[in-house]
Amino acid sequence: MCGIIGYTGNKDVTEMLLDTLEMLEYRGYDSAGIAVSDTDGKIRIVKCAGRVKELRHLFGSSQINGNSGMGHTRWATHGGVTDQNAHPHRYGHITLIHNGIIENYRELKEKYQLQDMLNSETDTEIVAGVINHFYNGDPLDAIRKSVVKLKGTFALVIMFDDFPDTIFAIRNVSPIVVSSSNEGNVLASDVAAVCQFSKEYFVLPELHTIVMNRECVLLYDLSGECVEPDILTADWELGQNGKGGFPFYMEKEIMEQPEVIQKTIEGRIVNGLPFFSKDEVTDEILKECNRICVVACGTAMHAGLVGQVLAQSVLGIHMDVELASEFMYADPVIDDQTLVIAISQSGETIDTLEALKYAKRAGAKTLSIINVRGASIARESDYVIYTYAGPEVAVASTKAYTTQLSVLYLLTARMALVRGVLNEGEVRTFISELQRTPEMVDQVLQKRDQIHKMARRVLDARDTFMIGRGLDYSILLEGSLKLKEISYIHSEAYASGELKHGTIALITDKTPVVAMVTQSRLKDKEMSNIREVCSRGAKVMLFTRESFQISGMDEWSEVFELPDMQDLFMVLPASVALQLFAYYVSADKGYDVDKPRNLAKVVTVE
Ligand code: AGP
Repeated sequence: MCGIIGYTGNKDVTEMLLDTLEMLEYRGYDSAGIAVSDTDGKIRIVKCAGRVKELRHLFGSSQINGNSGMGHTRWATHGGVTDQNAHPHRYGHITLIHNGIIENYRELKEKYQLQDMLNSETDTEIVAGVINHFYNGDPLDAIRKSVVKLKGTFALVIMFDDFPDTIFAIRNVSPIVVSSSNEGNVLASDVAAVCQFSKEYFVLPELHTIVMNRECVLLYDLSGECVEPDILTADWELGQNGKGGFPFYMEKEIMEQPEVIQKTIEGRIVNGLPFFSKDEVTDEILKECNRICVVACGTAMHAGLVGQVLAQSVLGIHMDVELASEFMYADPVIDDQTLVIAISQSGETIDTLEALKYAKRAGAKTLSIINVRGASIARESDYVIYTYAGPEVAVASTKAYTTQLSVLYLLTARMALVRGVLNEGEVRTFISELQRTPEMVDQVLQKRDQIHKMARRVLDARDTFMIGRGLDYSILLEGSLKLKEISYIHSEAYASGELKHGTIALITDKTPVVAMVTQSRLKDKEMSNIREVCSRGAKVMLFTRESFQISGMDEWSEVFELPDMQDLFMVLPASVALQLFAYYVSADKGYDVDKPRNLAKVVTVE
């Protein structure tokens, strides 16, 4: 969950580290710190609880200068949010930052008698103590001897007093990527941070050690053999990382959706038909599976719910959608006829990664839908389909979700074709509707002021409900998560037909209700359920489609008309409307929309 950066080069490392930590804050922002190899060759640490801006203020008066160093933003796992628990940690000759969880840190503390020199409550400081224990002047030897003693996940970035201008790093599960250019050598916990000077990068292979200084970047395996890295190219332009003039990344990323949906689908449609040949996804895997199971978390799981509706209504195939964190404990029935699809924006969510590994061990074929090239989940999968959403910085996922959906529509169409469920003409009709989605999403964006006005109705609410049936219910589950995670209003998405079986007892004239009515065959029943809550005094904000011509709502209700698409495709404009709704509630409440409390962009702890 934490943000990590290391740099050696010709730049003033302090500014470079602080600027990058601000970019990485979405990965965790309880506390921050940096270690710099000062001009006198000493490694100096400055760290504090709070945001990077507090750290920058702390640095303001210091005279620390140098060209090598490392930085860390923390999402606390062991030990409270305090200055002492902030990273970097120092033990003897070792200075260390860490992302992950060391499960056997107590045993290590006892075994190596570390307690007398500890200053924090963290597992990280224990790791520094272990490396210091094995250090006898050879950093690589000390690192190799130490990591085999660790149980758990780690991305470690290490500096040694005797080698102040060299940065060492090693990982197990938690991510580290590396880039080398004339502007300097960089390692970081994600691609957006490492690709500041070059689009070329590589993923640090697990249990390999990077040795990085101004002159070179060398990669060693556990046996001490120097090996060549596999170079990848980021699929976005340098400098695409800024807010582009928007107040928050989330607004920028919501507005980018027409473009990135287009970018995700265009290369996979030839003569009106879907193709995954460039992704090297074979038709066999799409034809031979007799069961599909999605494993994902949060918003990615909600994308899977839409995929489930597509699989069942278009393909006539049953699709399970499992919370990745629950999957392996539910004793899932998996065999070599099962296709397990992992959906993940970051490609580093450990719940999803572990679920995928479990599925592979059980014999399933695995396909992942990922936004970050070369991410851990991608490398673990038999097949990968990348979304082209570009860097998604806001903790609340938006454009990743709609591009994941775009891939699921394409996948459904390809499966329908190769399994003979739809003929070419029917598939072309399906694909041509998908090709309308960028324009339909843009139409919603053009009406965002109306959504902003609706959002003001819930600013003071403590609880809200979001009600709908079928695909509308799936849309609302995602819309409800958006509202919860950035406005802190307790929002509950509810199948509206189920309300009368108990939960409607909670509906009062103080309960704002968002209703979604986009599905032709469900419209009448959904309208009845809306009238049920209105009759109990609820204020209803209705999202529906122009062609439904819904009127006669009472004076307390507002209606937002979505552009018309075929029922199955209404998910995209409807979801974007709810993203905007949540965004405006959070922004108008004065919250830091991009960095909601308690959250981090990438969840690399189980
Ligand atoms: C979504 O807004 C949340 N930030 C969160 O639920 C996220 O979708 C989830 O953690 C999965 O992340 P991933 O897509 O990177 O795997």
